[in-house]
Amino acid sequence: MPGKKTEGVTGRGPSSGRADVSRAKLRERVKELTCLYGISQAASDPDLPLERKLAAIVRLLPPAWQYPGRACARIVIGEQVFETPGFREGAHRQTAPICIGGRSRGAVEIHYRSGCGLPPGHPFLEEERSLIENIAGQVALMIENEEAEAAKSELRKQLIRADRLAAIGQLAAGVAHELNEPLNTILGFSQLARKTPGLPAQAYNDIKKIEEASLHARNIIRELLIFARKGKPGSAPVNINRVVMDELSLFDALCAKSCVELRRVIDPDLPEITADRSQILQVVSNLIVNALQAMPDGGLLTLTTSFDASSVFLEVEDTGAGMSEEVRERLFLPFFTTKDVDQGTGLGLPVVHGIVTSHGGEIRVRSEMGKGTCFSVAFPVRRKNNQEECVDESRPKQCHSRRG
Ligand SMILES: Nc1ncnc2c1ncn2[C@@H]1O[C@H](COP(=O)(O)OP(=O)(O)OP(=O)(O)O)[C@@H](O)[C@H]1O
Ligand SMILES: [Mg+2]
Repeated sequence: MPGKKTEGVTGRGPSSGRADVSRAKLRERVKELTCLYGISQAASDPDLPLERKLAAIVRLLPPAWQYPGRACARIVIGEQVFETPGFREGAHRQTAPICIGGRSRGAVEIHYRSGCGLPPGHPFLEEERSLIENIAGQVALMIENEEAEAAKSELRKQLIRADRLAAIGQLAAGVAHELNEPLNTILGFSQLARKTPGLPAQAYNDIKKIEEASLHARNIIRELLIFARKGKPGSAPVNINRVVMDELSLFDALCAKSCVELRRVIDPDLPEITADRSQILQVVSNLIVNALQAMPDGGLLTLTTSFDASSVFLEVEDTGAGMSEEVRERLFLPFFTTKDVDQGTGLGLPVVHGIVTSHGGEIRVRSEMGKGTCFSVAFPVRRKNNQEECVDESRPKQCHSRRG
């Protein structure tokens, strides 16, 4: 009946107090479950990118706490920060670390703005501690899954790319091989013809042009064969630091002329690799030329060497134009270029790729439009003999999972 209150339900006796507490607890529990349900919905949405998922999740947090009107939330993952609208750090905060693979990568935070309405001391419930830890665990799991998925799809892409490059390499090698012979004949006979006594000057010059064009074509064929990995590279001990420090001096002047600062960051303990010295020089030169061409208005070019137990790394990083996803996809295809005809033939990177893979290495690229590009090359560390390696095995393996 309206207005009529029954003792024990709405009255102020001891049992009514207990009922109030139970009701309040139940309300808190429902709020927690609603929040966890919302998180699992957002986490399992296959169409939402990770950033949008985290932005959605952070908004679900304040309503699950006891004083939602005073609460704001923040999720920090590395350098990314997701906050509720109007977020302000509060006098009281509760945080839980987001741990992935045993390493803390960020935190979930709840902040209470100070002021009236909060009990004195620690205003958080015991249940809220388990809740925030539970949420941090779910966020960690979600990020772990996303990263595993991204790595899988990148691997798939790499395999497809490697297959395509191998097929193109075979074709290129076949064509290059077939063209080599007639080209040598043209070159040989034009050189002979140019030596004919009493040759008119015009004919001499024409034959010279034939010779120059044949040499250019031979150069392209040579590069195609390197890309296709035909021919075994030399194998001598090579210290990449020495290549970077001593053998690139011609680029110092070129960089200065292009207003590019050339910085070398080398690891003095770098072990040697087994390689063809002139080919390694070609790899570094091609990457540097590309970097300089990407910074027509100047910038910073950084050459970095480092190593772990199995690989020696060389990075060539520029602060130039960067490249689009479409360009990145086609980088290593022979004759792919975005440059003017007289600026590039599109063989620089295919040659780099051929050299690196024929040395048992790997090349990766990360790039951001308008920010710059970093090519990272890994070569296997030189083994002294079958068992012994010439590096300190206690050195941890580096994580070189690059963008791209
Ligand atoms: N550091 C870089 N920054 C931006 N784009 C790059 C960079 N390196 C390569 N590229 C892109 O990749 C394309 C292919 O490079 P690649 O070195 O194979 O050929 P190229 O430089 O165009 O010609 P070539 O090297 O034969 O003179 C370039 O045309 C350019 O679009
Ligand atoms: Mg190039």
